[in-house]
Amino acid sequence: MGSIISMALLFVFGVMLLNADVGSCGCFKRIFAFGDSIIDTGNFRTGSMWMPPYGGTYFHHPTGRCSDGRLIIDFYAQALGLPLLPPSGPEENTGKFPTGANFAVWGSFALSPDYYRKRYNLSMGHACLDSQLRSFKTVLARIAPGKAATKSLLSDSLVVFGEIGGNDYNFWFFDPRRSRNTPHEYMPDVITRIGAGVQEVINLGAKTILVPGNFPIGCIPVYLNDHKSNKSTDYDQFSCLKWYNAFSQKHNQLLKVEIGRLRSRNPSVKIIYADYYGAAMEFVRNPKRNGVDNPLVACCGGNGPYGTGHGCDQNAKICREPSRFANWDQVHMTEKAYNVIANGVLNGPYADIPLLHAC
Ligand SMILES: *[C@@H]1O[C@H](CO)[C@@H](O)[C@H](O)[C@H]1NC(C)=O
Ligand SMILES: *[C@@H]1O[C@H](CO)[C@@H](O)[C@H](O)[C@H]1NC(C)=O
Repeated sequence: MGSIISMALLFVFGVMLLNADVGSCGCFKRIFAFGDSIIDTGNFRTGSMWMPPYGGTYFHHPTGRCSDGRLIIDFYAQALGLPLLPPSGPEENTGKFPTGANFAVWGSFALSPDYYRKRYNLSMGHACLDSQLRSFKTVLARIAPGKAATKSLLSDSLVVFGEIGGNDYNFWFFDPRRSRNTPHEYMPDVITRIGAGVQEVINLGAKTILVPGNFPIGCIPVYLNDHKSNKSTDYDQFSCLKWYNAFSQKHNQLLKVEIGRLRSRNPSVKIIYADYYGAAMEFVRNPKRNGVDNPLVACCGGNGPYGTGHGCDQNAKICREPSRFANWDQVHMTEKAYNVIANGVLNGPYADIPLLHAC
């Protein structure tokens, strides 16, 4: 009798343990992430993102994140029952990273300086995907040495690969001497570089990879201000710049084709496309539904149209309620916007497998 009761208790306890282990989603023990300032949680060590008013909403101090609070990757981590992802940089040579690490660096491009030197005779010193993947392998060689150990570690990890590639276009579009058509020429190489990066982490053993697309850049305050036009036909019905949004959509379309190729080459790997364009357009199409006033105006900046005219720093004009804004500093979004975008990826409809169902 006694032993039956204790067996029943054991069973119940066992089931409870199992449920606890499964957590809120369950399948990922850790996250590894790559990308630029959209996802960097503190690798880039200097800049205005290390000063107030950055970080004021959630952390109550700056953390190196380009927002007033959490980023999309922070919402992924929390929804998956994991701690916020530490930046890899400060602990690259010592960290054990039991729940993963973030290799994303502010200002990173997909393509290397070498590419732009050879193709366009440009000498630039930007960070890029190559260096992030190098750091990743250095860390893997320490925390899971050997091919088999690395494979096993990555098999129950989630890899978030981006957003990356946005800066490959930004730098070009913000130089007025340059033709805006040129980025269309190198866009296929940006896509190929992202695809090759994804294949590289698959070869190391990754089994679930989330690949986000680019945002509707024609709705971003710096683009709206720098490329303003007196032709009404340059704007869509939401007052965003048509040409630049079409450009982002083209990037995303090519990225989806590349993901299709990667899927057929790696049938046992889940590669999820995250539609950041569609998710961000929610605010533009229907700002009131998300409690946003004007989605095209930045919370932190100047008196110009779109909140431009002054950088985001302590002397900026700072809105009283960041949660009523989608855009934070004229480039990056508010925690509020990132939360809504993350929910659209975690629960759908802005991911072809909602991330919480990817287990
Ligand atoms: C490449 O750029 C450098 C520096 O701007 C310039 O001096 C040189 O003439 C350029 N070369 C070509 C082939 O355009
Ligand atoms: C529109 O802008 C262009 C170039 O910025 C300028 O040359 C043109 O005169 C402007 N047209 C009107 C109607 O303001």
